[in-house]
Amino acid sequence: MLLSDRRLILFGGKGGVGKTTMAAACAGLFADQGLRTLLVSTDPAHSTADLLGMPLGNAPRRVRESLWALEIDAEADAEAHVRRIARDAEHSVSPEVLPTLRRHLDLARHSPGTVESAMLDRFAGLIGWGSGAETAGDAWDRIVFDTAPTGHTLRLLALPGLLTTWVEGMVRQRERVRGMDRMLRNLAGREEATADPVVARLRERRDRLRATRARLLADAAFWLVLIPERLAIEETARALRTLEDHDLTVSGLIVNRVLPDEGEGAFLRARLVQQRERMAELAQRFPTRPLLSVAHAAREISAPEDLPDIARQLDAPGRAAQPPM
Ligand SMILES: Nc1ncnc2c1ncn2[C@@H]1O[C@H](COP(=O)(O)OP(=O)(O)OP(=O)(O)O)[C@@H](O)[C@H]1O
Ligand SMILES: [Mg+2]
Repeated sequence: MLLSDRRLILFGGKGGVGKTTMAAACAGLFADQGLRTLLVSTDPAHSTADLLGMPLGNAPRRVRESLWALEIDAEADAEAHVRRIARDAEHSVSPEVLPTLRRHLDLARHSPGTVESAMLDRFAGLIGWGSGAETAGDAWDRIVFDTAPTGHTLRLLALPGLLTTWVEGMVRQRERVRGMDRMLRNLAGREEATADPVVARLRERRDRLRATRARLLADAAFWLVLIPERLAIEETARALRTLEDHDLTVSGLIVNRVLPDEGEGAFLRARLVQQRERMAELAQRFPTRPLLSVAHAAREISAPEDLPDIARQLDAPGRAAQPPM
């Protein structure tokens, strides 16, 4: 069921529902099929590394036959980006303004959008836009992301339309100014100015977002992971709406931590009654969605040898949401 033709598989869902576990199991499934697979984690807590039983870094590392993994360190990327700007600036601005510029860059590094923007740039690079070794998106048959972009990032991705209007307005304005400038230069007998670097950068950014979005629309499948509880169901409904508002493809839902339908004791029976209600609610609210369920394991899932059991359940054919018997 998970083995679709789409090259990018993204797992979304509330905190702690099992995205990282599902992503690792899913990446393992692809690798078992001989598909060259890259598992990408965005989790600063290194859960993927723990689960795979090996340290991971900011560049792809080989896990086993056909499987590679990396942990995006967006903070480090943002830091490197700001350092690069500072280095460039040192050669192009006068020494008196340098301290002020450094203060500004320092503020920029700690402002909320910077890390997210670095994450988006990295994401864009990984799915095949840009330059450099890892950006050869075609090097991978499948790329599995353990956490889908959040609402904010999605808005950035939806932005190219807006950005185009804005960039074009800006270009016209700058061209007017530069036209005037050129006329004065010509009158003064000086030569033509070179291309405008600000406009070039804006256009580059717009094109990058546009390409990323196109790639997501054409190549990405989202799976929403949830547990059979009320808050998770609500969050799933919201995520589904957001993704579909952006015309992204949601392949289906994965209901994780489903309790086995047998068990002794008042506590377990009470939980099962509630779980049946939630499963019935899922069937009713998402009647046409493929739905995979993954059993609540008796033991914790924390090592590579725990993953095949999860993978086997993900590999099952999807079915309509059904309350357990
Ligand atoms: N089916 C399952 N049975 C038992 N334990 C599970 C199951 N699925 C996940 N877990 C456990 O639940 C915990 C959370 O899972 P995981 O880290 O995959 O969630 P997550 O959605 O990635 O969390 P976060 O939002 O923090 O990134 C882990 O300790 C994991 O081992
Ligand atoms: Mg996680």
